[in-house]
Amino acid sequence: MLIEEAILGRQSVKVFDPKPVPPELIQRCLTLAVWAPNHHLTEPWHFTVVSGAARTVLADAVHDDLTQGVSSLNALSAEAKALKERRKLHSAPVLIAVYSTLGSNAQQTQENYAATAAAVQNLLLSAHGFGLGAIWRTGAIYHGPAVRTLLQSPEGSVFVGTVFLGYSAQRDIRRHRSPVSHHTVWLGDGSTGDSESQTIGGDPL
Ligand SMILES: Cc1cc2nc3c(=O)[nH]c(=O)nc-3n(C[C@H](O)[C@H](O)[C@H](O)COP(=O)(O)O)c2cc1C
Repeated sequence: MLIEEAILGRQSVKVFDPKPVPPELIQRCLTLAVWAPNHHLTEPWHFTVVSGAARTVLADAVHDDLTQGVSSLNALSAEAKALKERRKLHSAPVLIAVYSTLGSNAQQTQENYAATAAAVQNLLLSAHGFGLGAIWRTGAIYHGPAVRTLLQSPEGSVFVGTVFLGYSAQRDIRRHRSPVSHHTVWLGDGSTGDSESQTIGGDPL
């Protein structure tokens, strides 16, 4: 797959076929993920792969975090939120939670986060290249103590995202980016004068 085809063809997938993903394929995505650029080669990424029945264990931990210490007044809404999260966690056959380890100072922690974010993009592109669909999701649930313990996230690590992974059951979505010239300054020669926004995929509006 050509690089442009890979980058433009990837899209966030929210609707998955329940068909399981072969572990070897998940492993190949992770193996490619860690070839992200990484200052001082700190290798700051931590991945926890949650699949099949383990999603229920994760949903139970989310439930514990959301309902722990909640007053009886708020118990119903906490239960409703936990149920909503449980359904979401079962929407994809595989979830890969990604945390970034702390650096020895604030700058290194930030650079670790950047490297781990680059690894997540590698993961998304690899999944796309192997015919899988994926989406990068975030959420407060991944910060809870029961969830962090279950996912074995390193002490003090920063949550970067959870990649929901599986075979896509989603139709091609129309995606849009504004002209890159709106976000670019050229110093010296070389501006191509690009002023076109880009829209790809999906049905015409
Ligand atoms: C850091 C980060 C967090 C995201 N969190 C969520 C999320 O919680 N829920 C969600 O539906 N999409 C989430 N996304 C996916 C974006 O919504 C998606 O990338 C955006 O709509 C552009 O669509 P595309 O990926 O198909 O180009 C997140 C993306 C990033 C980079």
